[in-house]
Amino acid sequence: MDASSSFDALAGSRMSHSSTSTAPASSIASLKAVMSPATSPIPAGQKPPPRNLQHLYAETTNLRQPSKMKEYYKFFQIPGIGNLAGGLPHVQFFPYDTLEAKIAKPERWTPSPNKQDIVESDIESDDEDDIVEIVDRVAAVNITSEEPSSSSSAPSDRTAPERILVPKVAPDGLTADKKIDLATALQYGSADGYPPLLAWIRNFTREYLHPNVPYEGGPEVVLTVGSTDGLSKTLELFVDDWNPVRDDVTTRPGLLCEPFIYGNVLSQIAPKGMQVVTVEADADGMVPYGPGSLEDVLANWDPSKGRRPHILYTVTMGHNPTGIVLSLERRKQLYEVCSRFDVIIAEDDPYWYMQFPSAAVNEAASRNLSKPKSPLVAPTINKAAGQRSTGFAFLDSLVPSFLSVDVDGRVVRLDTFSKTVAPGCRLGWITAQPALIERFTRIAETGTQQPSGFVQSLISELVIGPLPAAAAKKELVATKSKQTEPTFSGWQVGGWVRWLEGLRGEYERRMNRMCTILDEGSFQLKQGTPVRAADADWGVITKTQLFSYDWPRGGMFVWIRVHFEAHPLWYATRPNPADGVIDGPLFSTALMLYLSSKPHLVLVSPGTMFSADDSVRLNRGWAYFRLCFAAESDENVEACSKRLVDGIQKFWKVKKAQDFEDIINNSPIVMAEAAEANKAGELGNLGVWMGC
Ligand SMILES: Cc1ncc(COP(=O)(O)O)c(C=O)c1O
Repeated sequence: MDASSSFDALAGSRMSHSSTSTAPASSIASLKAVMSPATSPIPAGQKPPPRNLQHLYAETTNLRQPSKMKEYYKFFQIPGIGNLAGGLPHVQFFPYDTLEAKIAKPERWTPSPNKQDIVESDIESDDEDDIVEIVDRVAAVNITSEEPSSSSSAPSDRTAPERILVPKVAPDGLTADKKIDLATALQYGSADGYPPLLAWIRNFTREYLHPNVPYEGGPEVVLTVGSTDGLSKTLELFVDDWNPVRDDVTTRPGLLCEPFIYGNVLSQIAPKGMQVVTVEADADGMVPYGPGSLEDVLANWDPSKGRRPHILYTVTMGHNPTGIVLSLERRKQLYEVCSRFDVIIAEDDPYWYMQFPSAAVNEAASRNLSKPKSPLVAPTINKAAGQRSTGFAFLDSLVPSFLSVDVDGRVVRLDTFSKTVAPGCRLGWITAQPALIERFTRIAETGTQQPSGFVQSLISELVIGPLPAAAAKKELVATKSKQTEPTFSGWQVGGWVRWLEGLRGEYERRMNRMCTILDEGSFQLKQGTPVRAADADWGVITKTQLFSYDWPRGGMFVWIRVHFEAHPLWYATRPNPADGVIDGPLFSTALMLYLSSKPHLVLVSPGTMFSADDSVRLNRGWAYFRLCFAAESDENVEACSKRLVDGIQKFWKVKKAQDFEDIINNSPIVMAEAAEANKAGELGNLGVWMGC
């Protein structure tokens, strides 16, 4: 895509959106100026190079030099060199002779079809072969290859584990990006990542995840110790620490974000002296244009409050905590504003592959709505504009990353293995334009140095695969004589994609179950007593909505708003009038305590934890709760959802201020009881504290 066609794509998207999100003509003109500088037109068919963003770096970032020590490592590779230079322990003294593990086959979990017009009943079949057939037909297809897909194994052995082994020393003759062994993985290594894994992730990222990045040369990657580390490095790269005693207020950096945000980020930015700058969000995500929007905040920035923010943080797929997936249209609009105001986009996306197109349809069906609202629309691949398919129907069906519209090279994308393998891996990667990746590598050199070699080698074995002993021998002979590449087994790209599809299917089923139960219990129905004898046969039913929410379009969370204002005790005077009235924050606390006590025993995360600032926390944070459908087993998700609904229904029956007060005042007892129950494994965990 050249600069002018990418501009047209952005402009086109604005035209087709609602009035609140329509860009003014002036912004289109300024975007054209940004994207098509008159002095250097981009020839047709060529992509523009990414922009130099050095002016946005933190002071320390500009001062960083490559680590002399790491640079010196390259001399260790001189054939036959006697290494008396490096402070490297010898491999013979590593106490690990091998690393061995049993791992899943990629097809262990059954995917559900990743499209919106198939509801759960389509895949509810007693016959497992039927399920596999539906799944194979619509989801697990590599559309560029005629090779039999890895999902063809019989259902009966899909759950059987396989064994992998990382040897101490790999046979000679393998290049660094093919060699997986403890001698290299457990040694000091390069800061950008363990060579075989770095090469695999780089290829996967560039060819399969983001094949259509619109700048010349495409993005690069650097491995991290997970997304938390990725964001920490992003802040280090772009943000100068600010100290209220030392620094002028006009230099205070700010982070643009939605009113509700993944709480750990707040803890990350606070010690840097950053301020939170909230941008309004609606059911489709952060709002680009109109009152309270990104454009509004940036265009009307008051410099006396700090530096105009130059970094935006967002979780664009299955937003934590709100569950929103940002549409491609919305992305283009937000990107246009960021480009115009020179803002970096930090896209934190642990849940990218967990998009649920069926949610909008199932939600509409469950609520008798005539048509789905905010449906997820699979992107169209514009081949005429040079865009290409990922080669996998599943990946093509996902709403693409901000990188897909990143003409300037201002997107820093954070990925993690925490939700696809396990959080304890502490492994992830950053994708961005090459100049930024070079700076990230400099930061890593003097900080984390490299992610753990244990994890990098085990994940390498998982995705790249072991070289079976016999094959190794054969291949090594072949390599020497014919210079052919060794043949690896392991999951490979196809297996990895299949694994992601399987996880998506599992989470989608859980989400459907939870939401079905929540929908059934979100209203309270009450039959009134007839006033006149003549009406005795006519019961008057009143219907009170206790909570509302959207079925999440992605991720792991359902974000409910409890309608406390419809509770009989809303703003009632407390038993001791000096204590004031029962307001929103008090209701929120009382409901948490009530739900976490017997017989309900469910824990939810309060919206106050995710409130970006005090005003959000005080004005609306108390009304929201985040429910996680990932942390419990299948059966428990159902049981917990029922207990939650039951608990909220009963909470509405608390009619006396004194009973309400007892819930609060008995809290130590309630909590102690809950703790006891938790010890006994009885407390259902529908919410998880701040860290996740
Ligand atoms: C939005 C978001 N970012 C980051 C993380 C943490 O990721 P990691 O374990 O890779 O540090 C989480 C975990 O829940 C998350 O929801």
